Amino acid sequence: MNPRKLIDTATALVADDKGLLAMDESNPTCNKRFAKLGIPQTEEARRAYRELIVTTPSLKDSISGAILYDETIRQKKKDGTPFVKAITDAGIIPGIKVDTGAKALAGHPGEKITEGLDGLRDRLAEYIQMGARFAKWRAVIAIGGGIPSRSCIESNANALARYAALCQEAGLVPLVEPEVLMNGEHTLEQCSKVTEEVLRTVFNQLYTQGVMLEGMILKPNMVLPGLTCPKQESMDVVAGATVSCFLRAVPAALPGIAFLSGGQSGELASARLNAMNVKFKSRMPWALAFSFARAIQQPALEIWQGQQVNVLAAQRALYHRATCDRAARRGEYTAAMELGVGQQEHHVAHASL
Ligand code: G3H
Repeated sequence: MNPRKLIDTATALVADDKGLLAMDESNPTCNKRFAKLGIPQTEEARRAYRELIVTTPSLKDSISGAILYDETIRQKKKDGTPFVKAITDAGIIPGIKVDTGAKALAGHPGEKITEGLDGLRDRLAEYIQMGARFAKWRAVIAIGGGIPSRSCIESNANALARYAALCQEAGLVPLVEPEVLMNGEHTLEQCSKVTEEVLRTVFNQLYTQGVMLEGMILKPNMVLPGLTCPKQESMDVVAGATVSCFLRAVPAALPGIAFLSGGQSGELASARLNAMNVKFKSRMPWALAFSFARAIQQPALEIWQGQQVNVLAAQRALYHRATCDRAARRGEYTAAMELGVGQQEHHVAHASL
């Protein structure tokens, strides 16, 4: 482990008001999203879609790092250039999702434990050789009748911390992602309580496993009411609840918090991140950044529809969402930025296509 290198990479991932693009959907998840839009669920379609993303001109204006999936890190552009090289040449840091998915937690109906620790040291060594500089592991925590259990929270926190320690040993910055899911009728207060308990447990485990906080990034959920909760909350209430919860539970040594979007629309995710930065940015010990998948990609995917002819328009949509999220980091996002999307001229020529 080279602590300086880890700190430099972690710092670079949240520098200049940029954020992360999560494009690490597993094949089944990617196929599910393609199926909804009638796009063929083939390796070539997934490759073509990912080529669209990694060749979006000037993506690095707003994106510091891109999280890949095992299939993606081995794929190439049509001209034979590996995606990792295309990303690195574009000025974006490549990362890799290394968990192998959330599986049913024995004895705890409705709860999951994320797997992937077996053989992880060897897999990390291979990913580093391929050019990855950071990694991601996602744990999922559901809220419902009687859950989450302590067993679920502690097992997932332990796995996250063991993964993070292995990453740092190998020289990769770990993104530590404990996601409290939005599904359900729970209130914002319930989400806040669970999120705080999860974060406290995760940081306790990170301490126990000797993880260097300065060389990692936290990728959490925002504190939100459940999707079907009758009482939805204003931007300001969400921003205040999220920041209070994190101030109570997240050590100041961390360089950044990069939120996941969790199924929020792109506009809502930008607006909520913006509200946090407008009100609290100058008082926060860490950067409040983004690491979105759906909230950046979804409009582009819907425009693309698997058709080459739609690539440029889809890239404009992707670039636009990333630009909105960078503006949100500065507290400069406005609803007016969404007007005329699609008609705007992308200021950089799409010569590479
Ligand atoms: O692990 C989940 C992704 O990295 C973030 O995805 O922004 O669509 O929730 P999301």
